[in-house]
Amino acid sequence: MNKLTIVKAENLKAKPDSDHLGFGQYFTDHMLVMDYTEGKGWHDPSIVPYGPIALDPSAMVFHYGQEVFEGMKAYKTAEGQFSLFRPDMNLKRLNISCERMSIPQVDPELLLDGITQLVSLDKDWIPEGEDTSLYIRPFIIATEPCLGVRAAKQYKLLVILSPVGSYYPEGIHPVSIFVEDEYVRAVRGGTGMAKTSGNYASGIRAQEIAKLEGFSQVLWLDGVEKKYIEEVGSMNVFFKIGGEVITPELSGSILAGVTRDSVMTLLRSWGIQVIERKISVAELFEAAREGKLEEAFGTGTAAVISPIGTMKWGEEQIAVAGGQTGEISKKLYDSITGIQKGVLEDPFGWRN
Ligand code: COI
Repeated sequence: MNKLTIVKAENLKAKPDSDHLGFGQYFTDHMLVMDYTEGKGWHDPSIVPYGPIALDPSAMVFHYGQEVFEGMKAYKTAEGQFSLFRPDMNLKRLNISCERMSIPQVDPELLLDGITQLVSLDKDWIPEGEDTSLYIRPFIIATEPCLGVRAAKQYKLLVILSPVGSYYPEGIHPVSIFVEDEYVRAVRGGTGMAKTSGNYASGIRAQEIAKLEGFSQVLWLDGVEKKYIEEVGSMNVFFKIGGEVITPELSGSILAGVTRDSVMTLLRSWGIQVIERKISVAELFEAAREGKLEEAFGTGTAAVISPIGTMKWGEEQIAVAGGQTGEISKKLYDSITGIQKGVLEDPFGWRN
């Protein structure tokens, strides 16, 4: 791969009000771009002014969805510099997704160096308010113009940056969840363990229906028996039942979340038992009926921790933690964001 070139934007954009960022609505002045050509590999990495890209209408990504992406965050440090949170985990997962989607893998060290240079150039865009960060979105698309169904021979990798606030308008306040037992997100052997656009596109219909019914998100069940819990919205999910914490085991249809891993590590370091196993929605509702379901929450890069306040399955609706933010959810949120922002110690070496 040749050396990274940098073309700076001549006109810098006005920065948004950091109190009203929402999620993924504003983009910084620059982006990272790199191309792949069969026989040549990944080449010509460059940082260029942020803006539209030209693609052939027959670019394969438009037709068969050969795409992968990642999501990670940067934070301003007290010294006026910035840190990334566990970027090695995201770049490792990017390559796992690439392998599943038959996309050529990327050298993680070179990509991390490119991302670091990009964030450094746009570091004035890193917001500093509560619950804010600079969201980093690397993605790869198949650009070869061709309508044959096969792996493309040309790709484009881009990294764009977005100053963000809370992913859900509820922030760290509990959300209402609808247990989805018609549509499924993924099946074992499918692409559920990869971060690829189709997984998210196919989930939108169920999300819309849940919204119409007055719920924030859906709880996804396994694609075969529609019995076991997999994820919540676009996040991994955890339940505290009778003192121990349970999260669905990675079965092939569940994404291996970086926040999921961080949550398990933190809980174990606090002496709380965490079990990765299958958990059925029937078991969950039974635990709730018996008063043993103490907390439930989603975990993801975007929202960090999203507590669940109510859940509806068929005709039955249960309240979790009295509809409040549970103690563990709050402690996890404060600990992870504290480590990310550098206001807490980083015992696991997660800041980079
Ligand atoms: C995350 O929780 O980080 C996600 O995957 C959500 C993202 C698709 C916006």
